[in-house]
Amino acid sequence: MQSQVASSRHGLMRRLGRALTTPFDPEDYLALFDARHSAREIRARVMRVRRETDRAVTLELAPNRLWKPHRAGQYVMLGVDIDGARRQRCFSLSSAPHDPVLTVTVKANGGGGVSDHLVHRCRAGDLLTLSPAAGDFVLPDPAPERILLLSAGSGVTPVHSIVKSWLSSGQTGRLVWRHFERNYSSLLLGESLRELALDGRLDFRLVLSAEAPRDGDLAGRLDEHWLTGNGLTESGLTERAGSGRQQAVFACGPQGFLDTVIDWHGRHGAGPLFHERFQTTPAGGGEGGRMRFAHSGGEAPAEPGQSLLEAAEAAGLSPRHGCRMGICHTCKCRVARGRVRDLQNGESREVVDQEIRLCVHGADGDVELDL
Ligand code: FES
Repeated sequence: MQSQVASSRHGLMRRLGRALTTPFDPEDYLALFDARHSAREIRARVMRVRRETDRAVTLELAPNRLWKPHRAGQYVMLGVDIDGARRQRCFSLSSAPHDPVLTVTVKANGGGGVSDHLVHRCRAGDLLTLSPAAGDFVLPDPAPERILLLSAGSGVTPVHSIVKSWLSSGQTGRLVWRHFERNYSSLLLGESLRELALDGRLDFRLVLSAEAPRDGDLAGRLDEHWLTGNGLTESGLTERAGSGRQQAVFACGPQGFLDTVIDWHGRHGAGPLFHERFQTTPAGGGEGGRMRFAHSGGEAPAEPGQSLLEAAEAAGLSPRHGCRMGICHTCKCRVARGRVRDLQNGESREVVDQEIRLCVHGADGDVELDL
């Protein structure tokens, strides 16, 4: 009864608020005092910009109350207004769920888009939008006691979150983490990595391919020879099922790196393999073709190897998109008919009345799109 009274009072206050603020929503007035305020979207204030390298920063974010804690290893789609237009892109969260500050670590890709803006122009006080955290590159529950983690380049960010989360959860097992970089100056989160490595449950080694290693770091480049030659197989970390010593393997890096890990795990792994790719490496160019736009009525060429998203943008259209790497599915669009090529695995197929992700498909002939 009491709760019914409370809820009808709450409804009355809401209606009164609307009546007084029409034609605007009460939320619009609250946003005048705190721009993060919104009943509809997750917004975050950039509290601090920490420089990682000359091409990367870590952003400390204070999100509004719509933010729900993430799971270690997940990503968000960050939105930022650039020259009056909202642009979005996915980034892994580098903080662990229990950390007092939410962080993303962003490396500029030189393409002039969201990552370049965040690295070179973002300042404390700026406002960003966030999607809810997503992705299944996360620790299973219960977390494995023994994990081998392999990362390269920007792949360090979700793995950093996973390792922090595992170490803080009171686990008594063992983590072995090998992170591959070209040189010291390109390493992200270096200070935090050094602190984490002080924990006796973590065996962390940096592996460098283009600079002489120092202080216990290693030299090399990830391939099967390196993996077996550096004790990862012999250490018992990858013993066959039935030995009671299975371990999980987590890998995050570019496609070629992951292909090597997947191949190696297929031969030596016993436990589950979790992997996440952080950039699209086109596998096959496709022939290109002509795109016909069912809604706008126009036509435009799609070059060999060009994604349909890029080709549509080059033709002056603005299809909805997010990550541009096949993860978020924001760019899904119906193809009435046509031949498309999956740029991630090189597979070409005829499509009739089906939705595809524009950012990871190219034309392999003529294509009619619902744009
Ligand atoms: S933009 Fe995210 S899947 Fe295409």
